[in-house]
Amino acid sequence: MKRDLERLVAQLTLAEKAALCTGANAWQTVAVERLGIPAITVSDGPHGVRRVVDLESNESLPATCFPTASALAASWDVELLQQLGHALAEECLALDVDILLGPGNNMKRSPLCGRNFEYFSEDPFLGGELAASYIQAMQSRGVGTSLKHYAANNQEFQRLVIDAQVDERALREIYLAGFERAVKQAQPWTVMCAYNRVNGDYCSEHARLLNSILKEEWGFEGFVVSDWGAVHDRVAALAGGLDLEMPGPHPERGQSVIAAVQAGELAEQVLDETVKRLLRVIFKAVETPKDAEGFNVEAHHQLARKIAGESLVLLKNEGGLLPLKAGQKLALIGNAAREAHFQGSGSSHIHPTRVASPFEEVATLAGEAELLFAPGYRMEPGRDQDLIDTAVSCAQEAEVALLYIALPSYIESEGYDRPNMRLTAQQEALIQAVAAVQPQTVVILNNGSAIEMLEWIDQVPAVLEAWFMGQAGGGAIADVLFGRVNPSGKLAETFPLRLADTPAYLTFPGENGMVRYGEGLFIGYRYYDARQQEVLFPFGHGLSYTTFAYSQLRVSAEKFSATEGLQVSVDVTNTGNVAGKEVVQLYVHDQESHLVRPEKELKGFAKVALAPGETKTVTLELDARAFAYYDPAYGQWVTESGAFDILVGRSATEICLQATVQLESTQELPCILTRESTIREWLADPRGERVLQPLLQQVIAQHSADTGALDAEFMRFAEDMPLKPVLDWFGKKLPGVPEQIIAELLAQLER
Ligand code: BGC
Repeated sequence: MKRDLERLVAQLTLAEKAALCTGANAWQTVAVERLGIPAITVSDGPHGVRRVVDLESNESLPATCFPTASALAASWDVELLQQLGHALAEECLALDVDILLGPGNNMKRSPLCGRNFEYFSEDPFLGGELAASYIQAMQSRGVGTSLKHYAANNQEFQRLVIDAQVDERALREIYLAGFERAVKQAQPWTVMCAYNRVNGDYCSEHARLLNSILKEEWGFEGFVVSDWGAVHDRVAALAGGLDLEMPGPHPERGQSVIAAVQAGELAEQVLDETVKRLLRVIFKAVETPKDAEGFNVEAHHQLARKIAGESLVLLKNEGGLLPLKAGQKLALIGNAAREAHFQGSGSSHIHPTRVASPFEEVATLAGEAELLFAPGYRMEPGRDQDLIDTAVSCAQEAEVALLYIALPSYIESEGYDRPNMRLTAQQEALIQAVAAVQPQTVVILNNGSAIEMLEWIDQVPAVLEAWFMGQAGGGAIADVLFGRVNPSGKLAETFPLRLADTPAYLTFPGENGMVRYGEGLFIGYRYYDARQQEVLFPFGHGLSYTTFAYSQLRVSAEKFSATEGLQVSVDVTNTGNVAGKEVVQLYVHDQESHLVRPEKELKGFAKVALAPGETKTVTLELDARAFAYYDPAYGQWVTESGAFDILVGRSATEICLQATVQLESTQELPCILTRESTIREWLADPRGERVLQPLLQQVIAQHSADTGALDAEFMRFAEDMPLKPVLDWFGKKLPGVPEQIIAELLAQLER
């Protein structure tokens, strides 16, 4: 129904408008009954619906717990995310939820961030594409989303106060890029601002992030909601672009807004704009009836199993240990074999409709084969040699040991970061002890982010990364172990060799309330590429029970303009004996650029299913942004003419095919030369070069005549100096004083 929001806003009193800007309670907005403005309900999120029904105990209704974001991202499958989005929307409708608080799309700056399990990737393109798919799918069913936590919320340490000091390029190309992609492609109904500060200002009051970039530049049409308790000064937050403060009630907030408007400190128009944004979403939300009679619990459990199956990453599989062979006697070792560790702790914690037991699921698929069990460790601190000894005996009696290792919640959770990248000492000792007696050992991991494995990886032939795999993950693990599902997950984050290798090692998590993102835009594989540093498992890595061959890389043009974009096609063949899925990854390398760029960046991907012997052509589109970088000097994205390599492969370190193309940019950049610009900067701008070159030649000739110095030597010395000192030192014989000469050059630029 079309409503006249202007009119409605005009009918609201100042007090009503102020009240609308803060929640009525933990999960609902304020209603204004006299004008027919209803309250809407929001709920966590992101990988299930946490519909809280008891505000005291936080008890929530049962809902399907799907795999968390790091698992979802490892599927590299936008269509799968769509299916997830549809299912989540159905559950929201059944549980009377208008907006689900997800997806989370913060970048994985360090593997230590306790909340990495709720985030997709270290790569903004991958994260952005997946987030957009999730958002589009949910919203296509009339349920809203909340893209979070905007922005640079990359750690839990001091998350409520920490000031993330991020340079403009890293911000634009890494930390904002995933949000930008999702906002522009999918228009989430809401964006949730982060708790932390960015470059000095709280995100909840960050006019540049919220107003200038999100709303004005990217065209975000929804409303900005605060993270729960992220607002410090309600009036400053309103002025900064924060529309809805959560949770409520906070009558004093309304009072402060009223007072600020009455005192002329806050323009009423700002409040009106906020209320309009809120009402637009509120009325859209209530258009979708929430009268669904439950949801299909069984079908969603099966979907959760399927999604988990697509997300598991087979990291290592020496000697073809997996899939398991029929009739093998198996030792299932590890607490997580009996008690699935399938989701992370904190606000995203879902009350599952049911939980698949990894042990029972193996039992179902193992048929007659004998199964043994030993717990191996507890999910609490401490060492227990007896548990290890029992596990060793158990492993000795079997043909294959399946070690289910879950990183306990006291190590990994929302609210705190991991102290290191390792498993617990008990778990490492367990793996070593079991592997010492049982060469056929498979390690199955449940955790949210990269693990350091140096202490044990060489001793075990097979490792399966099962993430926080959701309530049906126990079944998905069994599917992969027995080859019912051919693993096709690929890492959406690098697994480095050791913590000291990681990009943020020297600065994470900061001190005295501040964290400096010293590595700039070099996070994840961008960093390991630049340092030419070996990693344990690269970004994009994941094994299959079949093999794939790449051939026939084709580009739509050798030379192309940024507006045309480029089409890249490649043939992929399943060269093995079983059906499987491959993730084709396309990276772009800029051969030469004005600013430093990563060695390569992911700009396209597709997941393709292939029967044995089958070949399919995968076509990927690259637009101007795929070749661009953000230049803070111009305050905009820049596409430079020149040669780019198109790299297609199965991971960031296994490039199978490559081609070189020429981009012809027609972009006109503004002239930004000033008195302070260096000679190099003058010469880099065609307009600058035109006006400076004659003068420069004069200076060089004079200097060479006076001193006998080589032109090249002079240029090396002078090119990174501003004009003024160059003229002061070497231009004494020129007519006119340096200030005048420079003023004249600058004036010529205008002509
Ligand atoms: C979390 C958000 C969550 C909110 C509501 C906050 O502490 O950071 O992700 O949506 O609580 O539970």
